[in-house]
Amino acid sequence: MERTLSIIKPDAVERNLIGKILNRLESEGFRIIAMKMVHLTQEQAQGFYAEHQGKPFFDDLVKYMTSAPVVVSVLEKENAIKNYRTLMGKTNPEEADEGTLRKEFALSKTQNCVHGSDSPESAAREIAYFFADSEICPRAE
Ligand code: CMP
Repeated sequence: MERTLSIIKPDAVERNLIGKILNRLESEGFRIIAMKMVHLTQEQAQGFYAEHQGKPFFDDLVKYMTSAPVVVSVLEKENAIKNYRTLMGKTNPEEADEGTLRKEFALSKTQNCVHGSDSPESAAREIAYFFADSEICPRAE
């Protein structure tokens, strides 16, 4: 079993899409083993996206990620990282495949409804960024 970090981003929270997105995740066999709603501070958003600091879209990304609450969760599944990225679709919704979350729900490259970790190293860092070990609730098969 592998773990990944999912964020339902401000544009999706604001449009009442939390339930629809969680429903898709559970239908696709992801187990939600931790979850919280957070209104990120500027410092939290900058720290989370530290690898993008200096890129042209960074300031807009931080402004957007702090514009409304997000729903952060830890998902567990075989190959969770790759499978969740496939379910999300490409960053740019115009390039995302049919049936992906971003094709269905995203508004733009920035307002793209969901985030998922891109590697095991990122998943470990991102999960620890939001959750203490005691907040993660692994379940029996
Ligand atoms: P996410 O998967 O959360 O990781 C980094 C985020 O930066 C990405 O989703 C997008 O929301 C945003 N992003 C990445 N590339 C661009 C871009 N070229 N223009 C605007 N936003 C971008």
